[in-house]
Amino acid sequence: MSTPSPHSVSLTRYLIEEQRAGRINADARLLIEVVARACKTISIAVGKGALGGVLGDAGTGNIQGEAQKKLDVLSNEILLEANAWGGHLAGLASEEMDHSQPISDLAPDVYPRGNYLLLFDPLDGSSNIDVNISVGTIFSVLRCPEGVTQAQDEHYLQPGTAQVAAGYCTYGPSTMLVLTIGNGTHAFTLDREVGSFMLTTRGMRIPEETREFAVNMSNQRFWEAPMQAYVGDLLAGSEGPRGKDFNMRWVASMVADVHRILTRGGIFSYPLDSKCAAKGGKLRLMYEANPMSFLVEQAGGAASTGRQRMLEVPPTGLHQRVPVFLGSRHEVDAAVRYHHEHD
Ligand code: AHG
Ligand code: MN
Ligand code: MN
Ligand code: MN
Repeated sequence: MSTPSPHSVSLTRYLIEEQRAGRINADARLLIEVVARACKTISIAVGKGALGGVLGDAGTGNIQGEAQKKLDVLSNEILLEANAWGGHLAGLASEEMDHSQPISDLAPDVYPRGNYLLLFDPLDGSSNIDVNISVGTIFSVLRCPEGVTQAQDEHYLQPGTAQVAAGYCTYGPSTMLVLTIGNGTHAFTLDREVGSFMLTTRGMRIPEETREFAVNMSNQRFWEAPMQAYVGDLLAGSEGPRGKDFNMRWVASMVADVHRILTRGGIFSYPLDSKCAAKGGKLRLMYEANPMSFLVEQAGGAASTGRQRMLEVPPTGLHQRVPVFLGSRHEVDAAVRYHHEHD
């Protein structure tokens, strides 16, 4: 058999080959396929923009205390509807839902119940929807604990190390799915004519060193001492203790910022600040930090709260928030050092 050309491996083929190699079972494979199909549907809705009537506020709020956009609600519905019937899931949990949904509640007596739990941020970067800037979907797959017949919120409270798979889809100039099943991080680009995700980067690697950081600088005065010291030294550039000049980027869609970092390196941070301290941080552990940290570690990067490896944080609540530092390994290590030195 001839060697496949670089872009001839579809997501379906990649997953079947991983199944043959014993790294994924048929249920998890089909679950990822269903999530990818839902992402294609969301991509079409996002792409229609104003023509699809999907922009603007839904007029409702979520449990995070945020105003929901129409696309937050629509994307959540698309993911729920697509995944309910597959038979691979015991339940789903979402940034946009107060509590997790056991499959049996969604369609009593109709759909078979599976062994996985799916968690998602259906639409990440909501503030960018109306201004035509990249948004995305983030997801995480866990196993339902043995013997549980009705999955409740508490059954989702597993550390990030327990994830079976994680990924995101970015709806940008091209739609891309970036996935890990614990065997590297791989990028697939949607071929819009064919309707398939095609493998475009096998084994993404984040450079260990970087000169680029991502943070919302408008929060600077609210940060803790370690973050003040860390960013102060980044800004001091080649004349400061870090001895090099840094560039800054902030899209305000985590998916887009993390995608840039997976592609060319950098550090992403959403630290603790006095505005979000009572909640523990801004970003959500289960829907944002854990799946992104799994992807980043699988690409050779590092992910931390500043004080602890992200994937080892013991979850205490479905909507728990955490401070986040992730990306190029040596730069994340540097940020962690500042936390140790200035605490
Ligand atoms: P979401 O749209 O899912 O609520 O997430 C928004 C998050 C994340 O995507 C981004 O990194 C961050 O919020 C941006 O926050 P600021 O607007 O405070 O910069
Ligand atoms: Mn939100
Ligand atoms: Mn988000
Ligand atoms: Mn969201």
